[in-house]
Amino acid sequence: MTLKITHASGAIEQIRADVLAVPVALSKVATDPNIERLDRQLEGQLKILAKRADFVGRADQVFELPTLGRIAAVRILLLGVGEDAVPDEAKLRHIAACAARSSMGHSAADLALVVPWKLDTAGWRSIAEGVVLGSYRFDHYLTGDRRGKQRLGHVILAQNGRYLPANKAAIELGKKVGESVCIARDAVNEPPNVMTPIALANLASGVAKRGKLRVRVLDRRGIDRVGMRLLSAVAQGSSNEPRFVHLTYAPKQRTKQRIVFLGKGLTFDSGGLCIKPAAGMGEMKSDMAGAASVIGLMSAIASVRPAVEVHGLLVIAENMPDGRAYRPGDVFGSLDGKTVEIINTDAEGRLALADGLAYARRLNPDLVVDVATLTGACMVALGKTTSAFFSTNEDWAQRFVKAAGLAGENFWQMPLLAELRDQLKSDVADLKHTGERWGGAITAALFLKEFVGDSPWIHCDIAGPALSERARGVVPKGGTGHPVLTFLKLVEALG
Ligand code: BES
Ligand code: MN
Ligand code: ZN
Repeated sequence: MTLKITHASGAIEQIRADVLAVPVALSKVATDPNIERLDRQLEGQLKILAKRADFVGRADQVFELPTLGRIAAVRILLLGVGEDAVPDEAKLRHIAACAARSSMGHSAADLALVVPWKLDTAGWRSIAEGVVLGSYRFDHYLTGDRRGKQRLGHVILAQNGRYLPANKAAIELGKKVGESVCIARDAVNEPPNVMTPIALANLASGVAKRGKLRVRVLDRRGIDRVGMRLLSAVAQGSSNEPRFVHLTYAPKQRTKQRIVFLGKGLTFDSGGLCIKPAAGMGEMKSDMAGAASVIGLMSAIASVRPAVEVHGLLVIAENMPDGRAYRPGDVFGSLDGKTVEIINTDAEGRLALADGLAYARRLNPDLVVDVATLTGACMVALGKTTSAFFSTNEDWAQRFVKAAGLAGENFWQMPLLAELRDQLKSDVADLKHTGERWGGAITAALFLKEFVGDSPWIHCDIAGPALSERARGVVPKGGTGHPVLTFLKLVEALG
C-alpha cells in the first residue's frame, strides 16, 4: 500500500485526522498564528500546557496533546523547528519525517501536516520524500500483534492558497523518490538467507523492468568468461553463486554526460577463512548496502528521468569459508589485468570492486562513483553517522559535497595519501590488497584507485551510515538507504 498525499486549504481546526502536526519556530509559541487559532478552540489550554512542558519550538522538540473533540483532529503535535526561516530541502525532509514517525507512534492512519512556509516545487518534493521516509517500517517477518496493524495511509498537507498543479507533480515525484530509498532499506533489512546474491540480482532486474532500464546480468560462468577473476575468487567459498549486474538509463535527449555508479553487494560477509568473530557477525547481512543504494538510485532515476546517462553496476557475492574458499597467499588475475596477492580474505569488498571498476572504465565515463561498506577503519575515523569519500578530482568533490548537503547526508572527504601506496607492494604479484592497520580506509581506497584508470572517480565508504542503531529524522533503525539521495542530487545537478 502506498501512501496517499493530498492537500487541504481550509481552516486547520476542521481537518479530520488522527494527528494534526504543526511546525513551530523557536520562541514563537505565543505569536504563531496556527497555535493562536488552535488555542482559541481549546480555550487557552494549548498555550498553557505547552508552556508547562517547556515547549519553546527548539529544533526536534515535540509537544503532543489530545484534543478531546474540540477540533476535528484527535491529537495536536507541535514540532519544534528552531530558527524562524523557510527550511532548506534537507530540513523540510527532516521535519516531515519527524511528523510521520511521531504520528505512527500513535498508530495514526492519517496525518495532517501544516505547511506554514511558501515553498517552491523542490520544497514540496522534499516534504513528500520526508513523510515516506519517516513512515518506513520493516515488518515482513513479524506475525500476530507485532505486525503493525495500522499503517500511516494518508497525509494531508495543510496550506492556504499557494498550492499549484506543479506542486502536485513535485509531491508525486517525491513519493517515488522516497519509495526508491525504501527499496534500498528493505534490501538491507532482509535476512541473508533470503537476500542471496541471486535474489539481489533479481531485485535489480525487477527495478529495471518497472523503470524501463536496460539490464545485463552475468552469472558465475559469465563472470568467469569476461575475466572478473577477483569477484569470482571472493564468491568461490559459497554455494550461492555470484552475480554481476549492469543497469542502464539512457535519456531520450542527446546528453553530454555519462556517470557510472558501482555498488558492493556482499549479501553476507563472514570474513571467509579469515573468519570474523561471532559477536556482530549478523550485521554483515548489510554488506550489500552499497549495491542496494545503487538499485535505489536507479529506481529513482527511472522516475526523475534526468538528461544524463546513468549506469548502475553491482558486484554481488557471498563471502564464506569452505573447502573451495579462496585463501591468504592465493594470487589471482583481474579484469584489469593486474595480479593480486590475497592477504586477508575478510578484505573481500575491494577485490569485488576492483573488477567492477575495471568494467566501469570501459564505459568511457565522465565520472565513476563506487559505494561500499568497505572498512571498519572508516567507522573508527568518522563514527557511525558519517561516510567517507575520496576523490581524484576536486571539481567533482565539490559537486559531491553540495549534493550531500541537499540530501542531508553526512560525508567527509578523506585524502588519497600517496605515501601509503607502498604498503600495497607484493613480492609475488603486482599488488597486495591490504596494508597495515593504521589508515585502513585510505589504503583500501588506494587499492581501488589502481583499477579506475584515468576516469574522474569518487569512492564512498559507507560502513557506518548504512545501518542505524536508532531512528532519527528521515533515518530509521536498521537499513537507512544512505546515500541514495546524495547520488540522486549529484545526477540531477547535471541535467
Ligand atoms: N564489510 C567489512 C567492513 C565493515 C566492517 C563494514 C564493519 C561495516 C561494519 C569489510 O569487508 C571488512 O571486513 N573489512 C576489513 C578489512 C581488513 C581485513 C583489512 C576490516 O575493516 O576489518
Ligand atoms: Mn570483509
Ligand atoms: Zn565486507
